[in-house]
Amino acid sequence: FSLQPYNTFGVDAAAKYFIEIHSIEELKEALEFSNSQALKVLFLGGGSNILLTKDFDGLAVKLSLKGIHEDIIGENEVLVTAKAGENWHEFVMHCLKKNFGGLENLSLIPGNVGTSPMQNIGAYGTEIKDTFVSCTVLNLENLQLESFNLEQCKFGYRDSVFKQEGKGKYVILEVTFKLTRKAHKIKTEYGAIKSELENSGIKNPTIQDVSNAVIHIRQSKLPDPKEIGNAGSFFKNPTIVLTQFEELQQEFPAIQGYLNGDFVKVPAGWLIEQCGWKGKQIGNVASHKLQSLVIINATGKATGKEIFDFSTEIINSVKEKFGIELEREVNII
Ligand code: EPU
Repeated sequence: FSLQPYNTFGVDAAAKYFIEIHSIEELKEALEFSNSQALKVLFLGGGSNILLTKDFDGLAVKLSLKGIHEDIIGENEVLVTAKAGENWHEFVMHCLKKNFGGLENLSLIPGNVGTSPMQNIGAYGTEIKDTFVSCTVLNLENLQLESFNLEQCKFGYRDSVFKQEGKGKYVILEVTFKLTRKAHKIKTEYGAIKSELENSGIKNPTIQDVSNAVIHIRQSKLPDPKEIGNAGSFFKNPTIVLTQFEELQQEFPAIQGYLNGDFVKVPAGWLIEQCGWKGKQIGNVASHKLQSLVIINATGKATGKEIFDFSTEIINSVKEKFGIELEREVNII
């Protein structure tokens, strides 16, 4: 069964079995089947953060649980719960239509609601941990439902319990966010948003204005996975110790960094660009010409292995030039 339509890289890898599920009951049935056959299981959300490097010898489960509901709490707040299979951007648009604030900076991020807590999706000065309340998960060991609150999720930069000690143990079924209804906290500190709003002559932006600015910025430099296969940022922005950053500054005065205590987060896109990768193509794979942190399936014919090897070459050259080891953000299967 080809998984090509189910991963945004558009890699043509196959799974031995495939099922799309729409309810917890269907999910449990699928898992009983995989247990009885001793099959490995691969859960697919929006497919926007995985790289399939070979065929999958097990059961691929596409999570398509749908539904959004809300509970108004107090004067200014609302709890909004969305099921895992809701498309992230459509969910954000739904909230904006109702004038619920808090997710506008996360407009146009590919993927589904169910995978948003996995890597604490973030962009333009916001992460989901800022509005996250809890998520309901299925424990794969005993098939019982459990709830994880903010603290239990252990969110970090592109990180959560679901990528660490909880890896492979749970399926996220729904996520609840606490959003504002009236007094919105508008976040426009991110440089690109600020200039986008200034250019449009907007002085007192609404949450819809912020969303429009983010959509415009993203469309201007990130490739649309529907047109060119990609999984967004392929690497995390690395964090290095301040002393190493200061040494690098001597040699590379243009290096940028965001100070955080004794550590500095360095933009991986810049490091990759400096190594000459921006826009470079090898075979079917390339680094995007406008954002080198994004690896693309340039011809549509790339295999997962080719993309993986390309990423290894980038890691090696950044390591050689800067002594920094880039870490892949995309899940390698
Ligand atoms: N830069 C370069 N060359 C490049 C790309 C970037 O020099 O080819 C420099 C830019 O000039 C800028 C800095 O790097 O000064 C940061 O660039 P940008 O604002 O594009 O953000 P980023 O750090 O590269 C991160 C996220 C993105 C998110 C943006 C905006 C990670 C791994 N990526 O990228 O997330 O949209 O910030 O907040 O943290 C994604 O995960 O798929 C994704 C797109």
